[in-house]
Amino acid sequence: MKKIGVLTSGGDSQGMNSAIRSVVRTGIARGYEIVGIKRGYNGLMEKDFIPLGSKDVSDKLYRGGTFLQSARSEEFRTEEGQKKGANNLKEEGIEHLVVIGGDGSYRGAAKLNDLGIKTYGLPGTIDNDLPLTDYTIGFDTTLNVVTDAIGNLRDTMSSHERVSVIEVMGRNSGDIALHAGIASGVDAILVPEQPWDIKEISYKLKDRFNKGKTHSIVMVAEGAGNGEEIAHMIKDHCGLDTRATILGHIQRGGTPSAFDRVFTSRMGHEVIRLIDNDIYGVALGIENNDITYHRFEEIFEAHQPPNTKLYSIFGDLV
Ligand code: F6P
Repeated sequence: MKKIGVLTSGGDSQGMNSAIRSVVRTGIARGYEIVGIKRGYNGLMEKDFIPLGSKDVSDKLYRGGTFLQSARSEEFRTEEGQKKGANNLKEEGIEHLVVIGGDGSYRGAAKLNDLGIKTYGLPGTIDNDLPLTDYTIGFDTTLNVVTDAIGNLRDTMSSHERVSVIEVMGRNSGDIALHAGIASGVDAILVPEQPWDIKEISYKLKDRFNKGKTHSIVMVAEGAGNGEEIAHMIKDHCGLDTRATILGHIQRGGTPSAFDRVFTSRMGHEVIRLIDNDIYGVALGIENNDITYHRFEEIFEAHQPPNTKLYSIFGDLV
């Protein structure tokens, strides 16, 4: 019986468990044996393998995090480590490997593919920063977590006539800030993909307070700047009482949204179809609501264009 390995790597994201569940259940239905690899590529180095049956993924669909756990492995970054990883899989009879993670995890998967393991990438990151997919796993859930948090902040900021500067994750991408900012009706969004002028923003905020606004919210992507520093700058420019909130890892938790559950269930299913058809060395995504796949090289060469259209929509809404 053919064996399929599955691991989660890099920062966890809501929906990883649902993706594993889909690979396991669909794989078993097609007659494959599924092996879970614990703690990402670290577990691959140490042969930390567990057999996964249908019951092992019960109750996982709606849980955040990853029950296989995740890590960023230093050893696996080396050529030696990659060879060891491929050998460990071969010794175990694992021919196919599904890697759920972000860009760094995909690079590792591509190396294993070159070393004779048939690999597949699923876009597991809240950052939405992978090309050739409209969404990544966990991004939608994170937007809901951020939007809920902003609702709470708005209550207290309004009572005290304050400006709230909220720093969100995203690494070099401003997508979390942009989407959650629009969903929350914030007053300014600072993203790395667009230039911003803090003096101009501060004057606009002051003007709104002068016209009767009781609070303002400024959304900052971590790649655009530091929330605390930006809060200080705003206070210095316009004198408004300003507080910074760094949302941090709370954004990576919580039960996956219905979108993330369905999206990952579809991708797990598609991976098994690709295995059945002997297609490998590819990463999956969702484009125009279709589950698609591209060769790893294509993903590495592709450029993720900034979402200028959405940014300009936001500009007309404030
Ligand atoms: O890539 C996901 C992410 O949450 C980024 O948004 C953030 O910059 C980073 O991981 C945080 O990493 P760590 O969990 O190692 O602090």
